[in-house]
Amino acid sequence: MAARQTTKKPASKRTSRSRSASKNAKSKAKPTTAAQKKKVAAKPAGGGARKRQVSGYGAGGVDTVISVEDVTRQIEAIAEKVSIADLDALVPGDPYVRIDDLKAGYGKMEILHNFNLRVGRKQSLCLIGPNGAGKSTILHAIFGFNDIFSGQIIVGSGADARDVTKLSSSQKLKQAGIAYILQDKSVFPGMTVEENLWMGGYLKDQPERAKEAAERIFDKYPRLAARRKHLAKVLSGGERRLLEISRALVMEPEVLLVDEPSIGLEPRFIDMVFEILHDLQHGEGKTIIMVEQNAKKGLEFADIGYVLVSGVVAIAGKGDDLLKNPEVGRLFLGG
Ligand SMILES: Nc1ncnc2c1ncn2[C@@H]1O[C@H](COP(=O)(O)OP(=O)(O)O)[C@@H](O)[C@H]1O
Ligand SMILES: [Mg+2]
Repeated sequence: MAARQTTKKPASKRTSRSRSASKNAKSKAKPTTAAQKKKVAAKPAGGGARKRQVSGYGAGGVDTVISVEDVTRQIEAIAEKVSIADLDALVPGDPYVRIDDLKAGYGKMEILHNFNLRVGRKQSLCLIGPNGAGKSTILHAIFGFNDIFSGQIIVGSGADARDVTKLSSSQKLKQAGIAYILQDKSVFPGMTVEENLWMGGYLKDQPERAKEAAERIFDKYPRLAARRKHLAKVLSGGERRLLEISRALVMEPEVLLVDEPSIGLEPRFIDMVFEILHDLQHGEGKTIIMVEQNAKKGLEFADIGYVLVSGVVAIAGKGDDLLKNPEVGRLFLGG
């Protein structure tokens, strides 16, 4: 299938941020608590060279000595044979977002190999897995940021189901109601907080509705309301993330794609971000697909969790069940 939309690649934009976030995590996270010490001690026997040390798993900001390669190898070893029937069983009724047999990647490089996904309307799905597993690539594929070689992405159910595989990113938002929450770069630094919120609505050419939606957001989030006349560039990192996520409310999408909403944030902002996401799902009825390195927060939040490794789903289950899964616990939750 023809390559589409290779522009607007957010991964490169996020690189410096991710790096500085993990640097933060490292400098803060000496293994002082018992749980952290245990995690450090949980070095797999016979592991090879430990390059590319992992940080940021579990509660986020925890430094471990398990390398990406080790995590990948261990997950591959315990990978269950996840069938489409297993994925269907996690969704009540028809799926609202459905990915079938997707092969996708960058240029000629295939990252996702026959990937399948199912999430119901108003459900949330969290993707976890080691760095480089292909989590962001899934979100990019859904939003039209990378190359799709084969397979299908269907959004909607019943008579409204439509194949969005070949839509451009702007068509995805306007025609299929899919929004991708970009980090950092999506906020216009020289505009005020309220102008930034209104911009979300301009994407849909409905400025009046955008203004009304902005007022609802200010009613709900006093922290943003206090800053409404301030330029976005003076916001703290946490406030900016709140702005990015609440802009999604103004776009009024059906499906939200969220990549690592908690990365680099202080705990109180992490809680606020998850509160907004909770509101988006349960208050506004959005369907959410997120990637979260803070596996505990992500799985506590989401109805469904997939553990991704090397471009395939190794384990799939209800978020609660994955939290109790001992392997998931050992590799991703610091337990
Ligand atoms: N723009 C890109 N061009 C080429 N390869 C990329 C690009 N973005 C990511 N990749 C590669 O795709 C693989 C999966 O990356 P990604 O989906 O970002 O992983 P994750 O989000 O799980 O950490 C990695 O091997 C990564 O190097
Ligand atoms: Mg990623």
